[in-house]
Amino acid sequence: MTDAPLAAATAQILKTEHSAGQRPVVKTFFDEATFTASHVVHDPNTKAAAIIDSVLDYEASSGRTSYASAEEIVAYVKSEGLKAEWQLETHAHADHLSAAPWLQEQVGGKLGIGGDIVRVQTVFGKIFNAGTEFARDGSQFDHLFHDGDHFKIGTLDAVALHVPGHTPADMAFIIGDAAFIGDTLFMPDYGTARADFPGGDARMLYRSIHRLLKLPEQTRLFLCHDYKAPGRDVFAWETTVGAERAHNIHVHDGVSEEEFVQMRTTRDAKLSLPNLIMPSVQVNIRGGHMPEAEDNGVSYIKIPINKM
Ligand SMILES: [Fe+2]
Repeated sequence: MTDAPLAAATAQILKTEHSAGQRPVVKTFFDEATFTASHVVHDPNTKAAAIIDSVLDYEASSGRTSYASAEEIVAYVKSEGLKAEWQLETHAHADHLSAAPWLQEQVGGKLGIGGDIVRVQTVFGKIFNAGTEFARDGSQFDHLFHDGDHFKIGTLDAVALHVPGHTPADMAFIIGDAAFIGDTLFMPDYGTARADFPGGDARMLYRSIHRLLKLPEQTRLFLCHDYKAPGRDVFAWETTVGAERAHNIHVHDGVSEEEFVQMRTTRDAKLSLPNLIMPSVQVNIRGGHMPEAEDNGVSYIKIPINKM
């Protein structure tokens, strides 16, 4: 899609029933081991809540999982008396494992992700040579969102916006005046997400980012990651559309698509893969479930040699 119809489609999506006047409560939990920000967003009127991009603790050396990060979220949900209606994933993460299935057992909520997860499942199903027991149809999730889908969290209006580029399936969830934008933009002083994973595309990422930058300037943006930035000593995960347009080092107003693609591609060529990409991808494309146990009752993570 070229930019003009994309802008028109975005404007159409955002004006239908969606109220940017609502101000949900957002509480963020930052996991320093994977630099991931998990958000709990809720409607102050009804206490209905969504948990976005949760983290399952995973020790790579031992293959052990644990729940300290997710337990913090459960404690918060319970102490605030929230009703978890959704467990949302902005995409199939490559740097941390999702705790969504465990959180569903503790506090409930339907597990939702972008419908193009089937493309990610197809690509990685092939890379990991998964058998036919691994369905590539998104059936591991309770709900698949498509571009422009409207939904409610209590009385809050929410809309899903397809923002591919980092992966083909990335969704942003815009809930009242807050947008949970996954791996698209990072803090203005850090820039943007990489676009070199299988199925990633820098040009698509630029166009997706520009959909987000057309939201009202005061829209609160909540990020999925932060890595600090030269000269900044604290982690940060919240900014605004206005701040990104004025200051984002990769895509501030005036940076052309060609300039961005050139910069992103050059930079991505120098990045190494995330430490946890092998377990993360294999678990997250299964909706946060481990690969099916072998005949001894144990699940295994595969590592393809000389493939990635
Ligand atoms: Fe990611």
